[in-house]
Amino acid sequence: KELHFVVLLGSLRAGSLNGIVARTLPQIAPPGVSISQLGSIADFPHYSQDIQDNGIPESVSLMADKIREADGLIIVTPEYNYSIPGVLKNAIDWLSRLTPQPLAGKPVAIQTVSPGAIGGARAQYHLRQSLVFLDAFVLNKPEAMIGQASEKFDTESLELIDQKTKDFLVRQINALADLTRKIAS
Ligand code: FNR
Repeated sequence: KELHFVVLLGSLRAGSLNGIVARTLPQIAPPGVSISQLGSIADFPHYSQDIQDNGIPESVSLMADKIREADGLIIVTPEYNYSIPGVLKNAIDWLSRLTPQPLAGKPVAIQTVSPGAIGGARAQYHLRQSLVFLDAFVLNKPEAMIGQASEKFDTESLELIDQKTKDFLVRQINALADLTRKIAS
């Protein structure tokens, strides 16, 4: 069966390096896998139970539907202050309030991009912690931490130009596909 993965982006920046990766993934999807991007999390309100009690915002419920329908999720995000951006945490907090909870039992791969040397590694472990509570099946390895981004991206044309990085991302997508098939069997 062809697998479909969706991509959740943790940066709102127009020239986002993580956004470049998120847009590249559909183009490099290996055989047997198709990938599409989820909508932006920019229009999710700041989480408040008061808003929730008045009805889940449409942007949230639409994204939850897309995640439920997908075979797996790829989260691509920057690291902010050794953790995940507040906007991404806010999106996860919203999604966690829906029933059925869309991340439960969902295969998830994490990718982080940073101009720094460590490639967002610390954010990955904070993200994993929340995904434990949401009962997602987070792919262990390979971990995709893309550091030294200035050497790998063309920030004028907004392209990922490093072939080794693309090949590595394909390896991780294939690993997510293997995990997804294992879970389904
Ligand atoms: C950063 N940046 C950053 N980088 C990193 O490797 N570790 C970190 O802890 C942080 N912290 C941090 C906090 C805040 C508030 C900002 C705005 C930035 C730098 C960050 O990796 C860089 O700006 C990336 O380009 C952001 O990702 P996008 O928007 O390009 O995808």
